[in-house]
Amino acid sequence: MGKVKVGVIGTGMIGLGCHIPGYLSIPDECEVAWVCDLLDEPLKDASALAAGAKTTKDYRDLLNDPEVVAVSVAVPNLSHEKLTIEALQAGKHVLCEKPLAMNAQEARAMCKAAKDAGKILQVALQMRFGGGARFAREFIDAGHLGDVHYARAQALRRRGVPGWGVFIDKAQQGGGPLIDIGVHILDLTLFLMGYPQPVSATAQTWDTLGRDPSLYNGMGDYDRAKFTVEDMAVGMIRFKDGSVVVLESSFMANIKDEQFRTEIMGTKAGILVKGGGEDPVEIYTEQDRQLFDLKPRNVPEVPSSHTAEVQAFVHAVAEGSPSPVPGEQGLVLNAIFDAMYRSAATGKEQSVDASV
Ligand SMILES: NC(=O)c1ccc[n+]([C@@H]2O[C@H](COP(=O)([O-])OP(=O)(O)OC[C@H]3O[C@@H](n4cnc5c(N)ncnc54)[C@H](O)[C@@H]3O)[C@@H](O)[C@H]2O)c1
Repeated sequence: MGKVKVGVIGTGMIGLGCHIPGYLSIPDECEVAWVCDLLDEPLKDASALAAGAKTTKDYRDLLNDPEVVAVSVAVPNLSHEKLTIEALQAGKHVLCEKPLAMNAQEARAMCKAAKDAGKILQVALQMRFGGGARFAREFIDAGHLGDVHYARAQALRRRGVPGWGVFIDKAQQGGGPLIDIGVHILDLTLFLMGYPQPVSATAQTWDTLGRDPSLYNGMGDYDRAKFTVEDMAVGMIRFKDGSVVVLESSFMANIKDEQFRTEIMGTKAGILVKGGGEDPVEIYTEQDRQLFDLKPRNVPEVPSSHTAEVQAFVHAVAEGSPSPVPGEQGLVLNAIFDAMYRSAATGKEQSVDASV
């Protein structure tokens, strides 16, 4: 196979900032053949970055190009299902932004389309490509934690409602911080735990801070009257193997510092994996009745987990290997969020249906 020719649909924040640079980082292996956006400015920016790429406002142009073998779907959540399914049916492999869909029903249809087409559907969940995550996964797989029974996952911002895009609009996003950033830390957590099968979830959500026009926001301005998502969600998820995850996520919360971390606790040791920073991994263990906090020194350095994710996609396409982040795992996450939102609405624990 020659170079993998790709099209990028949606050249806003993530399409322009991560997908295109990811493809451009391996020029010998792939080529950005098309960039597509509904708006002039993002399209202009994308065309400047991916020199030589054709531009269009109609994604069907690139789906109709037989030379394009793979596409990025980097548009708001509302359009993930439609564009992904059309791309798969056009015979393209798809790297779809997170969350895979607005809900499990859509995610299920996307997984089915990928299976029917025999194409790769990869969910853009980049945290698992980070150096700390890779190390932690190997450490856990080697059995060093013993039996993993509990994890505490946090994606908490103090004042971080995205001021761009449609992140405050439930109709276009499906939800707030839970589905937007909770998805990252929950994916990392479940990836480290070996993606156990979820059974039920209970949760609560709030929106008081997000709707308050008197409050500061650190990520740009937005119209408080149009804020229809939650500003914070917390919940507990039960898994078939008896393990439990507590998940906290917020765009706004009265806490000291932003937290992006997961702590996995097993019968022999625990491990903390952070989203970034100097020491992304810590291990908590005991030997001879002495407690140890360990900091691994040779964690692999991954300059950009986004770039690593895009490269993994291109390699899977070129080699015909399975999806590096299968659609079915995106479906698990959506099914969990569906149950959490239902639980918040009803005040009762809800079952999780992640069946394909
Ligand atoms: N992986 C991450 O860390 C990460 C970070 C930010 C956003 N995202 C995800 O990426 C997606 C987009 O978010 P964003 O921040 O880039 O938003 P954005 O608003 O900056 O960009 C989205 C772009 O898609 C374009 N668009 C919408 N519908 C289109 C269509 N039918 N055809 C062509 N273009 C279309 C819009 O004009 C816009 O330019 C969301 O699903 C979001 O959850 C992921």
